[in-house]
Amino acid sequence: PLVLLLWAALGYLLGSIPFGMVLSRAMGLGNLREIGSGNIGATNVLRTGSKKAAALTLLLDGGKGAVAVLLARAIAGEDAAQLAGLTAFLGHCYPVWLAFKGGKGVATFLGLMLALAWPVGIACCLTWLATAALTRISSLSALVAAATSTIWMVFLGHSQAFFLGVLLTLIVFWRHRENIRRLRAGTEPKIGKK
Ligand code: G3P
Repeated sequence: PLVLLLWAALGYLLGSIPFGMVLSRAMGLGNLREIGSGNIGATNVLRTGSKKAAALTLLLDGGKGAVAVLLARAIAGEDAAQLAGLTAFLGHCYPVWLAFKGGKGVATFLGLMLALAWPVGIACCLTWLATAALTRISSLSALVAAATSTIWMVFLGHSQAFFLGVLLTLIVFWRHRENIRRLRAGTEPKIGKK
């Protein structure tokens, strides 16, 4: 239990690094809070106009979820891996450094899923991409990818992560509540638009 607690804390610390915020500041792109949705994720970094910064944010925010899982698994096993993935995701959404006002968890969700059960991770990424190709809306793509993740788990034989998947999906939806409001009002912007 003490070992698990340690991995939970490590996952949280990794996840709480707000790469979008750090990169956009370092690259002189302005304050993300004053741009677009005000979110710290890759979608909003793209609204600064820098594709490079957005791609890096996506990679690093996804990477921290994957690293948390892989490290925990290599040293402490599968339970620790799931826990570290979950807390990395929570760290991204609720980072202590930003007074717990973090991101929506999508890149971290995809990264941790790729590390936890790569077929499910790939299915989630493809679901995101297919929805984005059809609708050009990032938030909607994230909601569809999250909502279908547990279905992919069952289909692809990874139901060991089912409860984690349900929990992550619920939090992704909760973090997107403003996006859901805009989607219903028909005012959610397309990818790359403010
Ligand atoms: O990854 C977050 C995305 O789903 C929505 O971002 O900035 O459009 O609220 P944003």
